[in-house]
Amino acid sequence: MKTDVCIIGAGPAGLLLGHLLKAEGVDCVVIERRSPDYVLSRIRAGVLENITVDLMERIGLDRRLKAEGLVHDGFNLADGERLIRIDIAGLTGQQVYVYGQTEVTRDLMDACEERGLETIYEVEDTALHDIESDAPYVTFDKGGQQQRIDCRIIVGCDGFHGPSRRAIPASVGKEYMLEYPFGWLGILADVPPCNHELIYANHERGFALASMRSETRSRYYVDVPLTDKADDWSDERIWDELAIRLGPDAAANITRGPSIEKSIAPLRSFVFAPMRHGSLMLCGDSAHIVPPTGAKGLNLAASDVHYAAEALTRFFKASDNDAISGYSDKALSRVWKSERFSWSLTNLMHRFPGGGDFERAMQVAELDYIANSRAAQTSIAENYVGLPV
Ligand code: APR
Ligand code: PHB
Repeated sequence: MKTDVCIIGAGPAGLLLGHLLKAEGVDCVVIERRSPDYVLSRIRAGVLENITVDLMERIGLDRRLKAEGLVHDGFNLADGERLIRIDIAGLTGQQVYVYGQTEVTRDLMDACEERGLETIYEVEDTALHDIESDAPYVTFDKGGQQQRIDCRIIVGCDGFHGPSRRAIPASVGKEYMLEYPFGWLGILADVPPCNHELIYANHERGFALASMRSETRSRYYVDVPLTDKADDWSDERIWDELAIRLGPDAAANITRGPSIEKSIAPLRSFVFAPMRHGSLMLCGDSAHIVPPTGAKGLNLAASDVHYAAEALTRFFKASDNDAISGYSDKALSRVWKSERFSWSLTNLMHRFPGGGDFERAMQVAELDYIANSRAAQTSIAENYVGLPV
């Protein structure tokens, strides 16, 4: 098989890029290790920045998002006593959509056949070859038969555990990693949200987040020690802890119900540079991971895809051989600023094991400063809605 661009990974990054390239007449094929159902089963966050919404609009796949998504003008920080509302619409003129990121993947997936975006699922033993040449290729097994895709560019959209990043020589690549000493225990429940906007809480007992998927489906999180297992937490124990950490006002509005999903995810900050080497480009989680505080994961993948699609379209349609060379620096510039925001909000809103009274006093002081400073709130707001691409 021969194509212009071979995309490895059919998560949100891979499918978004595939649709954008297809719309521009750039020939591409997407290969995916898992089944469509498995890809859709991945638990994901629920906040979309404008860059993600804009790209879905550009490929004409924003209908359901606009029909079912909730438009939010603000979100809240809670410090155990009060809610500090960040008026993102008033401070930035922008809003965010609350819409399950899994639904973004579903919308992208459902459009592949009608749009002629070739996506090959359940491949095995994906391997990248000759990425430093102008004629790279990808091999994989499908149904016991080895297949080969010859292409001009490979784009690794294969997530943190995929092979693409690892195909870049260690002498070329540099990894930046920070692992946090806690995880997030998340539950999904078919109950109405306790608040019409998100609440991120830093209580003396720990972090909590009240989010939602719709007006009848809620998503909550508490931070837990890395040694905890989801089975250690009964639904009642989670509801009790949420009521304490989110504060009395939110607690009074919590509707309890059986969890339909319960899991613990570790938190890390990770960046791999460069995001291009030879004929290989990286997008999304293959190149970076952010802690979920601020819901930057998918939205950062979207800005990578925006830059990659722009560069690849110029390369293939305008014979601009320099377009791709600037991709890594441009993408990394926004990646690092999102990493900083996610790291900063995680440090502000979580109680770190071993953190002493001084660290706690600094968090209380920063939250008090934010509560009383338009400038501080504006800084948080412009990062939350997403910095310009
Ligand atoms: N061959 C083919 N596909 C692979 C391989 C492989 N060897 N290894 C991994 N993949 C696939 C995975 O099965 C997965 O479907 O690559 C895809 C990567 O998708 P994600 O991990 O979702 O990463 P990405 O598309 O970059 O999503 C970015 O979206 O919802 C958020 O939190 C999520 O931060 C993440 C963001
Ligand atoms: C979610 O709704 O799952 C969510 C929202 C905001 C975050 C993380 C997760 O920062």
